[in-house]
Amino acid sequence: MSIINRRTLLKTGGTFVAGACLPLTNIRLAFADQSQDFTFAYISDSHIQHIKGTKFVRNWDQGLKRAVAEANLMSPKPDFVMYGGDLAQLGTREELDHGFEIMSALKHKTHYVMGEHDYYADLGEYWSSQVGKQYYSFDHKGVHIIVLNSILTDDHWTHERWANGTERMGVMAGLDDPRGSPFMVGAAQRKWLANDLKGVSKDTPIIVFSHSPLQKLFKNWNFWTDDAELVQAILQPFDSVTVFYGHVHQIQYNQIGNITFHSVMATAWPWPYPESYAQAENHMPHLTVPINRADPFFERDATGWQYVDINSGKATVKFSLTENEPRTVGYDAKRGYPLDTKYVSRSKPPQNHY
Ligand SMILES: [Fe+2]
Ligand SMILES: [Fe+2]
Repeated sequence: MSIINRRTLLKTGGTFVAGACLPLTNIRLAFADQSQDFTFAYISDSHIQHIKGTKFVRNWDQGLKRAVAEANLMSPKPDFVMYGGDLAQLGTREELDHGFEIMSALKHKTHYVMGEHDYYADLGEYWSSQVGKQYYSFDHKGVHIIVLNSILTDDHWTHERWANGTERMGVMAGLDDPRGSPFMVGAAQRKWLANDLKGVSKDTPIIVFSHSPLQKLFKNWNFWTDDAELVQAILQPFDSVTVFYGHVHQIQYNQIGNITFHSVMATAWPWPYPESYAQAENHMPHLTVPINRADPFFERDATGWQYVDINSGKATVKFSLTENEPRTVGYDAKRGYPLDTKYVSRSKPPQNHY
Protein backbone atom coordinates (compact mmCIF):
# COMPACT_ATOMS: atom_id res chain seq x y z
CA MET A 1 0.00 0.00 0.00
CA SER A 2 1.47 3.33 -0.94
CA ILE A 3 1.61 6.27 1.37
CA ILE A 4 -0.89 8.97 0.51
CA ASN A 5 0.33 12.31 1.72
CA ARG A 6 -2.07 14.96 2.82
CA ARG A 7 -2.10 16.85 -0.48
CA THR A 8 -2.72 13.67 -2.47
CA LEU A 9 -5.36 12.64 -0.01
CA LEU A 10 -7.18 15.92 -0.36
CA LYS A 11 -6.98 15.76 -4.14
CA THR A 12 -8.14 12.19 -4.39
CA GLY A 13 -10.45 12.07 -1.44
CA GLY A 14 -13.46 12.79 -3.60
CA THR A 15 -12.50 9.97 -5.95
CA PHE A 16 -11.87 7.55 -3.16
CA VAL A 17 -15.32 8.01 -1.83
CA ALA A 18 -17.05 8.65 -5.11
CA GLY A 19 -20.71 8.42 -4.42
CA ALA A 20 -19.82 8.00 -0.82
CA CYS A 21 -21.96 10.68 0.68
CA LEU A 22 -22.26 8.12 3.35
CA PRO A 23 -22.05 7.74 7.07
CA LEU A 24 -18.86 5.82 6.84
CA THR A 25 -15.53 6.41 8.41
CA ASN A 26 -12.42 5.15 6.73
CA ILE A 27 -9.37 5.34 8.88
CA ARG A 28 -5.93 5.04 7.42
CA LEU A 29 -2.90 4.66 9.57
CA ALA A 30 0.40 5.69 8.03
CA PHE A 31 3.67 5.14 9.80
CA ALA A 32 7.28 5.51 8.78
CA ASP A 33 7.38 1.79 8.14
CA GLN A 34 5.02 1.45 5.21
CA SER A 35 4.45 -2.24 5.83
CA GLN A 36 2.64 -1.13 8.98
CA ASP A 37 0.08 0.96 7.12
CA PHE A 38 -3.47 -0.12 7.24
CA THR A 39 -6.97 1.16 6.83
CA PHE A 40 -10.18 0.35 8.52
CA ALA A 41 -13.73 1.53 8.07
CA TYR A 42 -15.90 2.85 10.87
CA ILE A 43 -19.69 2.66 10.89
CA SER A 44 -21.75 3.79 13.87
CA ASP A 45 -25.13 4.63 15.39
CA SER A 46 -27.59 3.09 12.95
CA HIS A 47 -30.45 2.81 15.48
CA ILE A 48 -32.28 0.09 13.55
CA GLN A 49 -35.89 0.41 14.72
CA HIS A 50 -38.55 -2.25 14.55
CA ILE A 51 -42.11 -1.22 13.68
CA LYS A 52 -43.88 -4.58 13.58
CA GLY A 53 -43.60 -7.87 11.75
CA THR A 54 -40.99 -7.46 9.06
CA LYS A 55 -41.25 -3.65 9.04
CA PHE A 56 -38.40 -1.46 10.23
CA VAL A 57 -37.87 2.30 9.99
CA ARG A 58 -36.67 2.56 6.44
CA ASN A 59 -34.45 5.60 6.76
CA TRP A 60 -32.31 4.07 9.48
CA ASP A 61 -32.03 0.83 7.49
CA GLN A 62 -30.92 2.77 4.45
CA GLY A 63 -28.18 4.60 6.29
CA LEU A 64 -26.59 1.35 7.41
CA LYS A 65 -27.09 -0.41 4.09
CA ARG A 66 -25.34 2.41 2.25
CA ALA A 67 -22.42 2.33 4.66
CA VAL A 68 -22.04 -1.43 4.29
CA ALA A 69 -22.19 -1.20 0.50
CA GLU A 70 -19.56 1.54 0.44
CA ALA A 71 -17.26 -0.36 2.80
CA ASN A 72 -17.39 -3.29 0.42
CA LEU A 73 -16.37 -1.06 -2.49
CA MET A 74 -13.43 0.58 -0.75
CA SER A 75 -10.06 0.60 -2.34
CA PRO A 76 -7.69 -0.05 -0.73
CA LYS A 77 -9.70 -2.61 1.15
CA PRO A 78 -9.99 -1.87 4.85
CA ASP A 79 -8.33 -4.44 7.09
CA PHE A 80 -11.45 -4.55 9.21
CA VAL A 81 -14.59 -2.62 10.06
CA MET A 82 -15.34 -1.17 13.47
CA TYR A 83 -18.99 -0.74 14.39
CA GLY A 84 -19.32 2.03 16.98
CA GLY A 85 -22.49 1.04 18.87
CA ASP A 86 -26.24 1.75 18.87
CA LEU A 87 -26.92 -0.79 16.16
CA ALA A 88 -30.47 -1.09 17.53
CA GLN A 89 -32.88 1.56 18.82
CA LEU A 90 -34.61 -0.34 21.64
CA GLY A 91 -32.30 -3.34 21.88
CA THR A 92 -34.86 -5.95 20.84
CA ARG A 93 -33.86 -9.23 19.30
CA GLU A 94 -35.69 -8.22 16.11
CA GLU A 95 -33.72 -5.01 15.81
CA LEU A 96 -30.38 -6.57 16.60
CA ASP A 97 -30.99 -9.49 14.24
CA HIS A 98 -32.01 -7.12 11.47
CA GLY A 99 -28.95 -4.95 12.08
CA PHE A 100 -26.60 -7.93 12.15
CA GLU A 101 -28.19 -9.20 8.96
CA ILE A 102 -27.44 -5.93 7.19
CA MET A 103 -23.92 -5.96 8.66
CA SER A 104 -23.41 -9.56 7.48
CA ALA A 105 -23.13 -8.27 3.93
CA LEU A 106 -19.76 -6.81 4.87
CA LYS A 107 -16.88 -8.67 3.29
CA HIS A 108 -14.45 -7.60 6.00
CA LYS A 109 -13.77 -8.74 9.50
CA THR A 110 -15.94 -6.68 11.83
CA HIS A 111 -15.48 -5.59 15.42
CA TYR A 112 -18.19 -4.07 17.59
CA VAL A 113 -18.54 -1.49 20.34
CA MET A 114 -21.51 -1.72 22.71
CA GLY A 115 -24.01 1.15 22.65
CA GLU A 116 -26.62 1.89 25.30
CA HIS A 117 -29.43 1.18 22.84
CA ASP A 118 -27.98 -2.31 22.32
CA TYR A 119 -27.57 -2.94 26.04
CA TYR A 120 -30.33 -1.84 28.38
CA ALA A 121 -33.21 -4.09 27.27
CA ASP A 122 -31.47 -7.27 28.47
CA LEU A 123 -28.14 -5.92 29.80
CA GLY A 124 -26.30 -6.97 26.67
CA GLU A 125 -27.22 -10.64 26.81
CA TYR A 126 -28.40 -11.09 23.24
CA TRP A 127 -25.81 -8.73 21.75
CA SER A 128 -23.06 -10.66 23.53
CA SER A 129 -24.43 -13.99 22.32
CA GLN A 130 -24.03 -12.73 18.76
CA VAL A 131 -20.89 -10.59 19.03
CA GLY A 132 -18.81 -11.84 21.94
CA LYS A 133 -16.93 -9.77 24.48
CA GLN A 134 -18.12 -6.32 25.49
CA TYR A 135 -14.57 -5.07 26.04
CA TYR A 136 -11.36 -6.40 24.58
CA SER A 137 -8.08 -5.44 22.96
CA PHE A 138 -5.97 -6.60 20.07
CA ASP A 139 -2.81 -5.60 18.24
CA HIS A 140 -2.84 -4.77 14.60
CA LYS A 141 0.30 -3.87 12.66
CA GLY A 142 2.01 -2.12 15.54
CA VAL A 143 -1.04 -0.39 16.99
CA HIS A 144 -2.65 -1.47 20.25
CA ILE A 145 -6.40 -1.27 19.85
CA ILE A 146 -8.75 -1.21 22.82
CA VAL A 147 -12.53 -1.47 22.80
CA LEU A 148 -14.37 -0.42 25.95
CA ASN A 149 -17.97 -0.72 27.04
CA SER A 150 -18.43 2.82 28.32
CA ILE A 151 -22.23 2.83 28.70
CA LEU A 152 -22.54 0.95 31.99
CA THR A 153 -24.04 2.58 35.03
CA ASP A 154 -24.50 1.84 38.71
CA ASP A 155 -26.10 -1.37 39.94
CA HIS A 156 -28.93 0.32 41.78
CA TRP A 157 -30.12 2.14 38.69
CA THR A 158 -29.62 -0.91 36.52
CA HIS A 159 -31.24 -3.57 38.65
CA GLU A 160 -33.65 -2.01 41.11
CA ARG A 161 -35.61 0.82 39.56
CA TRP A 162 -37.49 -0.75 36.70
CA ALA A 163 -40.33 -3.20 36.34
CA ASN A 164 -38.68 -4.79 33.35
CA GLY A 165 -35.95 -4.37 30.76
CA THR A 166 -38.23 -2.69 28.25
CA GLU A 167 -39.02 0.07 30.74
CA ARG A 168 -35.33 0.47 31.60
CA MET A 169 -34.41 0.66 27.92
CA GLY A 170 -37.12 3.19 27.19
CA VAL A 171 -35.77 5.52 29.86
CA MET A 172 -32.14 5.20 28.81
CA ALA A 173 -33.06 5.61 25.15
CA GLY A 174 -34.42 9.09 25.78
CA LEU A 175 -31.82 11.71 25.01
CA ASP A 176 -32.85 14.04 27.83
CA ASP A 177 -34.94 11.85 30.11
CA PRO A 178 -34.04 12.96 33.65
CA ARG A 179 -34.71 9.41 34.89
CA GLY A 180 -31.67 8.22 32.93
CA SER A 181 -28.28 7.73 34.53
CA PRO A 182 -24.75 8.85 33.60
CA PHE A 183 -22.63 6.29 31.78
CA MET A 184 -19.45 4.85 33.19
CA VAL A 185 -16.71 2.40 32.29
CA GLY A 186 -16.72 1.05 35.83
CA ALA A 187 -14.12 -0.24 38.26
CA ALA A 188 -13.85 -3.77 36.88
CA GLN A 189 -13.16 -2.58 33.36
CA ARG A 190 -10.73 0.11 34.50
CA LYS A 191 -8.79 -2.58 36.35
CA TRP A 192 -8.80 -4.72 33.21
CA LEU A 193 -7.62 -1.73 31.15
CA ALA A 194 -4.71 -0.96 33.47
CA ASN A 195 -3.71 -4.60 33.37
CA ASP A 196 -4.07 -4.80 29.60
CA LEU A 197 -1.70 -1.85 29.17
CA LYS A 198 0.98 -3.23 31.48
CA GLY A 199 2.73 -5.03 28.66
CA VAL A 200 2.42 -2.19 26.14
CA SER A 201 5.40 0.09 25.59
CA LYS A 202 4.81 3.80 26.10
CA ASP A 203 5.67 4.60 22.48
CA THR A 204 3.15 2.14 21.00
CA PRO A 205 0.32 4.08 19.34
CA ILE A 206 -2.93 3.35 21.14
CA ILE A 207 -6.38 3.67 19.70
CA VAL A 208 -9.37 3.40 22.00
CA PHE A 209 -12.92 2.88 20.83
CA SER A 210 -15.79 3.71 23.14
CA HIS A 211 -19.42 4.50 22.54
CA SER A 212 -19.82 7.50 24.83
CA PRO A 213 -17.14 10.19 24.92
CA LEU A 214 -14.42 9.36 27.45
CA GLN A 215 -14.77 12.97 28.57
CA LYS A 216 -17.47 15.04 30.23
CA LEU A 217 -19.21 17.27 27.72
CA PHE A 218 -22.95 17.60 28.43
CA LYS A 219 -24.48 15.60 31.22
CA ASN A 220 -28.11 16.25 30.33
CA TRP A 221 -27.77 14.23 27.13
CA ASN A 222 -25.19 11.77 28.43
CA PHE A 223 -22.48 13.21 26.20
CA TRP A 224 -20.64 12.14 29.29
CA THR A 225 -18.75 9.31 30.99
CA ASP A 226 -18.81 9.61 34.75
CA ASP A 227 -15.40 8.06 35.37
CA ALA A 228 -13.75 9.71 32.37
CA GLU A 229 -10.91 11.22 34.43
CA LEU A 230 -10.02 7.81 35.85
CA VAL A 231 -9.93 6.21 32.40
CA GLN A 232 -7.91 9.12 31.04
CA ALA A 233 -5.41 8.76 33.89
CA ILE A 234 -4.74 5.17 32.79
CA LEU A 235 -4.16 6.30 29.20
CA GLN A 236 -2.19 9.51 29.81
CA PRO A 237 1.26 7.89 30.32
CA PHE A 238 1.32 6.74 26.71
CA ASP A 239 2.87 8.96 24.05
CA SER A 240 0.09 8.77 21.51
CA VAL A 241 -3.50 7.94 22.38
CA THR A 242 -6.45 8.58 20.11
CA VAL A 243 -10.01 7.96 21.28
CA PHE A 244 -12.78 7.53 18.73
CA TYR A 245 -16.36 7.55 19.99
CA GLY A 246 -19.88 7.46 18.60
CA HIS A 247 -23.09 8.31 20.47
CA VAL A 248 -23.01 12.07 19.91
CA HIS A 249 -23.99 11.95 16.21
CA GLN A 250 -21.96 15.06 15.40
CA ILE A 251 -18.41 16.28 14.84
CA GLN A 252 -16.42 16.84 18.02
CA TYR A 253 -12.68 16.89 18.60
CA ASN A 254 -10.63 17.69 21.63
CA GLN A 255 -7.23 17.28 23.26
CA ILE A 256 -6.71 16.45 26.93
CA GLY A 257 -3.06 15.91 27.76
CA ASN A 258 -1.72 13.16 25.51
CA ILE A 259 -5.17 12.05 24.45
CA THR A 260 -6.75 13.20 21.21
CA PHE A 261 -10.50 12.75 20.89
CA HIS A 262 -12.54 12.42 17.72
CA SER A 263 -16.21 11.59 17.43
CA VAL A 264 -17.54 9.62 14.47
CA MET A 265 -20.70 10.27 12.52
CA ALA A 266 -23.98 8.39 12.81
CA THR A 267 -25.67 6.62 9.92
CA ALA A 268 -29.11 7.42 11.36
CA TRP A 269 -29.49 11.12 12.20
CA PRO A 270 -27.57 14.10 13.63
CA TRP A 271 -28.02 15.47 17.13
CA PRO A 272 -27.97 19.24 17.57
CA TYR A 273 -25.11 20.80 19.50
CA PRO A 274 -26.22 21.33 23.10
CA GLU A 275 -25.67 25.09 23.06
CA SER A 276 -28.01 25.47 20.09
CA TYR A 277 -30.80 23.73 21.95
CA ALA A 278 -30.48 23.96 25.72
CA GLN A 279 -29.61 26.60 28.28
CA ALA A 280 -28.04 24.08 30.64
CA GLU A 281 -24.33 24.26 31.28
CA ASN A 282 -22.21 22.31 28.85
CA HIS A 283 -18.50 21.70 28.41
CA MET A 284 -18.26 21.18 24.69
CA PRO A 285 -14.63 21.24 23.54
CA HIS A 286 -13.50 24.78 22.81
CA LEU A 287 -11.47 23.35 19.96
CA THR A 288 -14.52 22.02 18.14
CA VAL A 289 -16.02 24.26 15.50
CA PRO A 290 -19.61 23.01 15.13
CA ILE A 291 -20.88 22.13 11.69
CA ASN A 292 -23.73 24.14 10.25
CA ARG A 293 -26.87 22.07 10.13
CA ALA A 294 -29.36 20.55 10.06
CA ASP A 295 -31.78 20.98 7.24
CA PRO A 296 -34.72 18.76 8.19
CA PHE A 297 -35.65 18.37 4.54
CA PHE A 298 -32.41 16.51 3.86
CA GLU A 299 -32.68 13.26 5.75
CA ARG A 300 -28.96 12.69 5.50
CA ASP A 301 -27.87 16.19 6.53
CA ALA A 302 -25.03 15.95 9.05
CA THR A 303 -24.69 12.25 8.76
CA GLY A 304 -21.42 11.43 7.13
CA TRP A 305 -18.13 9.64 7.14
CA GLN A 306 -14.56 10.54 7.78
CA TYR A 307 -11.14 9.51 6.62
CA VAL A 308 -8.37 9.55 9.16
CA ASP A 309 -4.70 9.59 8.25
CA ILE A 310 -2.44 8.99 11.21
CA ASN A 311 1.16 10.07 10.79
CA SER A 312 3.50 9.42 13.68
CA GLY A 313 0.49 8.36 15.69
CA LYS A 314 -1.47 11.58 15.20
CA ALA A 315 -4.69 11.85 13.24
CA THR A 316 -5.70 14.02 10.34
CA VAL A 317 -9.42 13.56 9.99
CA LYS A 318 -11.23 14.46 6.80
CA PHE A 319 -14.96 14.68 7.31
CA SER A 320 -17.24 14.35 4.32
CA LEU A 321 -20.84 15.23 5.07
CA THR A 322 -23.61 14.22 2.74
CA GLU A 323 -25.47 17.51 2.69
CA ASN A 324 -22.78 19.69 4.14
CA GLU A 325 -19.32 21.10 3.56
CA PRO A 326 -16.35 18.77 3.92
CA ARG A 327 -14.18 19.43 6.95
CA THR A 328 -10.61 18.54 7.78
CA VAL A 329 -9.25 18.37 11.30
CA GLY A 330 -5.50 17.87 11.60
CA TYR A 331 -3.19 17.45 14.54
CA ASP A 332 -1.08 20.57 14.96
CA ALA A 333 2.19 19.22 16.36
CA LYS A 334 3.46 22.67 17.30
CA ARG A 335 0.43 23.45 19.41
CA GLY A 336 -0.21 19.88 20.48
CA TYR A 337 -3.89 19.59 19.66
CA PRO A 338 -6.21 19.06 16.70
CA LEU A 339 -7.41 22.03 14.68
CA ASP A 340 -9.84 22.45 11.86
CA THR A 341 -7.65 23.51 8.95
CA LYS A 342 -10.17 26.07 7.74
CA TYR A 343 -12.45 27.27 10.49
CA VAL A 344 -10.80 27.33 13.86
CA SER A 345 -9.29 30.37 15.47
CA ARG A 346 -5.72 29.29 16.06
CA SER A 347 -5.42 31.61 19.03
CA LYS A 348 -7.79 29.45 21.04
CA PRO A 349 -6.16 27.48 23.82
CA PRO A 350 -6.75 23.78 24.27
CA GLN A 351 -9.39 22.74 26.74
CA ASN A 352 -8.45 21.31 30.07
CA HIS A 353 -10.68 18.71 31.60
CA TYR A 354 -13.61 19.89 33.62
FE1 LIG B 1 -26.65 6.78 18.91
FE1 LIG C 1 -25.63 6.04 22.18
